[in-house]
Amino acid sequence: MAGWDKKLLWCFMLLLAGAAAQPVMYPPHVCAVSGSTVTLPCTFTPNNTFNGTGVEVRIQVIRVRWCQNHQICHGSTPNVYDSRSPNNNNHRYKYLGDLKKNCTLQIKNVNKMEDEATLRFRMEVNYTMGHFTGTSGVNVTITDRTKLKIVSSRDNRQVAEGQTVTLQCSANCTFNQLEVSWFRDGQLLSESGPALLLGPLTAEDSGNYTCTLKIKQHLLSEPYSLSVRDKEEGQHGDLPLIVGVVLGILLALIALIVVLLIIKRKRAAEKNQRAVGGEEPPRVPDEVYSNIVTFDPQGGGDLDMEDVSYASVQFQQQNQRR
Ligand SMILES: *[C@@H]1O[C@H](CO)[C@@H](O)[C@H](O)[C@H]1NC(C)=O
Ligand SMILES: *[C@@H]1O[C@H](CO)[C@@H](O)[C@H](O)[C@H]1NC(C)=O
Ligand SMILES: *[C@@H]1O[C@H](CO)[C@@H](O)[C@H](O)[C@H]1NC(C)=O
Ligand SMILES: *[C@@H]1O[C@H](CO)[C@@H](O)[C@H](O)[C@H]1NC(C)=O
Ligand SMILES: *[C@@H]1O[C@H](CO)[C@@H](O)[C@H](O)[C@H]1NC(C)=O
Ligand SMILES: *[C@@H]1O[C@H](CO)[C@@H](O)[C@H](O)[C@H]1NC(C)=O
Ligand SMILES: *[C@@H]1O[C@H](CO)[C@@H](O)[C@H](O)[C@H]1NC(C)=O
Repeated sequence: MAGWDKKLLWCFMLLLAGAAAQPVMYPPHVCAVSGSTVTLPCTFTPNNTFNGTGVEVRIQVIRVRWCQNHQICHGSTPNVYDSRSPNNNNHRYKYLGDLKKNCTLQIKNVNKMEDEATLRFRMEVNYTMGHFTGTSGVNVTITDRTKLKIVSSRDNRQVAEGQTVTLQCSANCTFNQLEVSWFRDGQLLSESGPALLLGPLTAEDSGNYTCTLKIKQHLLSEPYSLSVRDKEEGQHGDLPLIVGVVLGILLALIALIVVLLIIKRKRAAEKNQRAVGGEEPPRVPDEVYSNIVTFDPQGGGDLDMEDVSYASVQFQQQNQRR
C-alpha cells in the first residue's frame, strides 16, 4: 500500500514537473473545414528572472508573436501576429491572449493555401537573451472533407411526445461559424445553427434527420431517425408499473398486520399462563412445543402458527397442574 502511494506521488510529481517545464502549452493537432473560424487555445509561463552572465536579472514580457512554419520566429521572420504591430498583420488572425499567460489565437475564414501550417508562439522580454519560442508548435490542417455526424442529447432514438431533444451536427474537423442546414426526410428546416432543438415533440417531429454545411453541401451526414412515441401509449406503458407498486405496498402492509396480530396473541397467551402458574415456565423453543403438541390428543390435525401457540399453552397448563 505504502509502495503504491509513493509511486502515485512520484507520478504526480513527474506530471507537475513536466507541466512546469513546458513554457508554452499548445492544443493538440487542429483540423478545420475551410471557411470556418479556428481557435487555438494556448497558455505560456514566462520566467521572472534570467541568469545572464553571472548575474540574475529581472525580466518582463514586452512582445509576443505567432509565426508559420518557422522554428524560431525571431527577428524579421514574417509573422501572422505581432503585438508590436497589431495593425500590419493579417486581419484574419486575432490574438485573444495577453502578455502574461494567455496566448490564444483565433483565425477567421480559414483556407488551405494560407493557413495550413505549423504555428509557433514566441515571447520576447526586456533582455535579449531571455527571449523564448515554443518550438513544438501546433499543426493546423484545413480540409473540405470531413464526416458529419448527428449526435442526440438522448441515448434513445424513441422519445415520448412532449419531451425535448437536441440534435447536434458534429465532425472531427471543426466548422465553427459555418452555417448548418438541417433536413427532416429531405425537407429543409429553418434552423441554421449546429444544434437543432426539438420540442415539445409531436408526432410530426418523427423522421430521418440529416445535416449539412450550407456552403459545402457535399458533406451530408448519415440520417438520424427519430421516432416520437404517442403520449397515450406512454401512459399505458406506465400503468402496469404503478399497479404493481401499489399491490406490492398493500401486500407488505397485510403481511405486517398479520405478524403483529400473531405477536400480540402470543404475548397475551404468555401473560395468561404466568397469571395461572406464578413461576416462569422453562424457556423452550416453539419448535419443541409443536413437536410435543402433535401427540397431544387435544391438539387436533393440521396446525398453523396460531394453533401451535394455543396448543402449547394448554400443554403447559396441564403440566403445571400436575
Ligand atoms: C525559464 O527558465 C528555465 C531554467 O533556466 C528554462 O529552462 C526555461 O526555458 C525558461 N522559460 C522561459 C519561458 O524562458
Ligand atoms: C538562476 O540561478 C539560480 C542560482 O544558480 C537558480 O536558483 C535559479 O533557478 C536560476 N533561474 C533561472 C531562471 O534559471
Ligand atoms: C525589465 O522590466 C522589469 C519590470 O519593469 C524591470 O524590473 C527590470 O529591471 C527590467 N530588466 C531589464 C534587464 O531591463
Ligand atoms: C485565454 O483567453 C481566451 C479568450 O479571451 C479565453 O477564452 C480563455 O479561457 C483564456 N484561457 C485561459 C487559460 O485563461
Ligand atoms: C506537425 O507536422 C510536422 C510535419 O508535418 C510533424 O513533423 C510534427 O510532428 C507535427 N507536430 C504535431 C504536434 O503534430
Ligand atoms: C474522426 O475521429 C474518429 C475517432 O475519434 C477516427 O476514428 C476517425 O478516423 C476520424 N476521422 C477523421 C476524418 O479524422
Ligand atoms: C427512415 O429511414 C429508414 C431506413 O434508413 C426507413 O426504414 C424509414 O422508413 C425512414 N423513415 C421515414 C419517415 O422516412
